[in-house]
Amino acid sequence: MTHLTAFTASLETVAERCEDVVPPVYAALFKRFPEFEDLFVLDIDQGARGHMLNEALSMAEGLLQDDPVAISFVSAERMNHEGYGIGDDVFEGFFQVMADVFRTISGEAWSSEMSAAWDKVYEKAAAAKL
Ligand code: HEM
Repeated sequence: MTHLTAFTASLETVAERCEDVVPPVYAALFKRFPEFEDLFVLDIDQGARGHMLNEALSMAEGLLQDDPVAISFVSAERMNHEGYGIGDDVFEGFFQVMADVFRTISGEAWSSEMSAAWDKVYEKAAAAKL
C-alpha cells in the first residue's frame, strides 16, 4: 500500500466516524499550543479554521506526491505564519495534531500504514522550505 493510498484511507475512515473534524482538531491544537488560540479570535464562524484545515489536508496529499505546487504553498504559508509568531516546529506540529486526532477518531480501524503515511507527511512538510 502506498503512503498516498493509506493517507486517503485514513481520511475516509475519519469521515465515516466524524461529521466535522474542525472542533476536535482545534481543541487538540489549542491544548498543545494554548498560546495561539487567541489568534483565531476573529474567526467567529470557524470559517478560517475550516479553510486552513482543508488547505493543510490537500497540501499533505500533494506533499506525498512530491507536487511542487504543494511544496511551494506550504513554504509560503510557513512564511505567512511567521507573521503570527508561529515558528517551524509549531507550524509543522499542525500535521501531527491532525494525525493524533484522526487516529483517536478512527480507533481500531487505524492501521500502521496510516501512521507511516502521516509520518511521511510530517517529514515532507518539515522539508518544505524555500
Ligand atoms: C499550529 C500550527 C498553525 C497555527 C497556530 C496556525 C494559525 C493560523 C491563524 C491564526 C490563521 C488566521 C486565522 C484567521 O484569519 O482568523 C491561519 C490562517 C491560515 N492558515 Fe494556519 N496555522 C497553523 C498551521 C497551518 C498549516 C500547517 C497550514 C497549511 C499548510 C496553514 C494554512 C493556513 C491558511 C490557508 C490560512 C488562511 C485561512 C483563511 O483565512 O481562510 N496553517 N493560521
